[in-house]
Amino acid sequence: LSQIIRRNPNEPPLVFHWFPLIGSTITYGMDPPRFFKENREKYGDCFTFILLGKKTTVYLGTQGNDFILNGKIRDVNAEEIYTVLTTPVFGKDVVYDCPNAKLMEQKKFMKIALTTEAFRTYVPIISDEVTTYFKRSTDFKGKSGIVDIPPKMAEITIFTASHALQGKEIRDKFDESLAALYHDLDMGFSPINFSLHWAPLPWNNRRDHAQRTVAKIYMDTIKSRRGREDEAGSQDIMWHLMNSEYKNGVKVPDHEIAHMMIALLMAGQHSSSSTSSWIMVRLASRPDIMEELYQEQVKALGADLPPLTYEDLAKLPLNQAIVKETLRLHAPIHSIMRAVKSPMPVPGTKYVIPTNHVLLAAPGVSASDPQYFPQPDLWEPHRWEKDHPLTPTIVRNEQEEEEKIDYGYGLVSKGAGSPYIPFGAGRHRCIGEQFANVQLQTIVAEIVRLFKFRNVDGSNDVIGTDYASLFSRPLEPAKIYWERREAN
Ligand code: HEM
Repeated sequence: LSQIIRRNPNEPPLVFHWFPLIGSTITYGMDPPRFFKENREKYGDCFTFILLGKKTTVYLGTQGNDFILNGKIRDVNAEEIYTVLTTPVFGKDVVYDCPNAKLMEQKKFMKIALTTEAFRTYVPIISDEVTTYFKRSTDFKGKSGIVDIPPKMAEITIFTASHALQGKEIRDKFDESLAALYHDLDMGFSPINFSLHWAPLPWNNRRDHAQRTVAKIYMDTIKSRRGREDEAGSQDIMWHLMNSEYKNGVKVPDHEIAHMMIALLMAGQHSSSSTSSWIMVRLASRPDIMEELYQEQVKALGADLPPLTYEDLAKLPLNQAIVKETLRLHAPIHSIMRAVKSPMPVPGTKYVIPTNHVLLAAPGVSASDPQYFPQPDLWEPHRWEKDHPLTPTIVRNEQEEEEKIDYGYGLVSKGAGSPYIPFGAGRHRCIGEQFANVQLQTIVAEIVRLFKFRNVDGSNDVIGTDYASLFSRPLEPAKIYWERREAN
């Protein structure tokens, strides 16, 4: 009752809860998408809940996504929320440990390195990493077997990303010390660190030691690469950053390059590895689609299946749709948060979001809204074809010009109005979208060439989602049955 009486009429409705500090932390944390959907039915698109003692206002739907993600810099702020988690992991002076204008310049440097020319060199590197991985892995010996797939996809993701984005020298270090060090860094990303990031807990000490050691490895590599003639024309991001300059004429310092390298690998690792795990889990639940993918390659590229090229990826629409549809239902980032810096009136309502609130966008909700996606809970890659009965309305309206804006790192789609924005929108939008697509499509195409998957029990069931870390992923063990194609 007190929650109803004390309510400010200009604030969105508050989700009912029993305990003041805990609020809805547990129900939200266990299954965020369900929490959003249930409360949307009760309170509408805009409502507030208590998350670890903090008033957190959710604004769902395309208008909510736009309100939060395209919010003005004087109104919303990302670094205030994320810095406690990311700075100990990435290091100083990059991403959220610097003014937003500097992040925009850093994103520009990283984005410029991700060109078509670079992608052309990445596809063979990724293909090679995948085939070598399956040749060497003891879990894939013989003709068939059962494997818990997410840890395997995590390894494939880090090997392919580090090799393509950071060069062979760094990639080779993942066979030695780097893998364990990144594992320690990863512990800094557990949600408990939102409140205990500063504490002298054992895993925080290991995180800090790992950060220093990894940064030193990168800095030593940078020093040894400088001035080497055989490096001219390199296409990896480290090399590009080594040759970049801020607008004020200052060259990017070595420690910032090192910290950006960590940030890039961490940003991409969790989202790409979760997505590739979901793809494998989904393919095991639909062996017919896995077979279609194989036939698509045979038809488009020839029965001898020549080495994959960047250009080949565009000839494989189903292979592309697999990534797209998986990101629709399994976007790894379920909640995007911003601190409110000045009172924000919500257009068309009487609500004003005060500065003691945090805003939360959940683009996954609009991506599974039946208003746009017929039978939204069905994983159906064919829905991305133009004339399929389940084609989303956003594909049908493709002719409409997308609104684009430049925040300092090139033109980006505002994403306003689109219910499908797994890579975010606005000034914090992902710069890794194209890389992730190239990486994921190449990994899928190579795996389809090698294997047939199915569920261990032969069913079409799909495992549930683990929301316990900041990036959602399949619950483990997520076991699948594999069989080598060449065995037939
Ligand atoms: C930002 C998703 C892969 C680098 C974002 C955001 C989303 C996202 C939703 C916006 C976060 C926010 O607004 O707070 C994804 C997904 C990926 C993926 C779904 C893969 C399937 C990658 C990769 C890289 C990367 C591979 C690096 C090569 C970044 C960076 C940002 C970002 C640097 C900017 C952060 C900011 O400006 O605040 N990503 N990402 N991402 N992502 Fe990705």
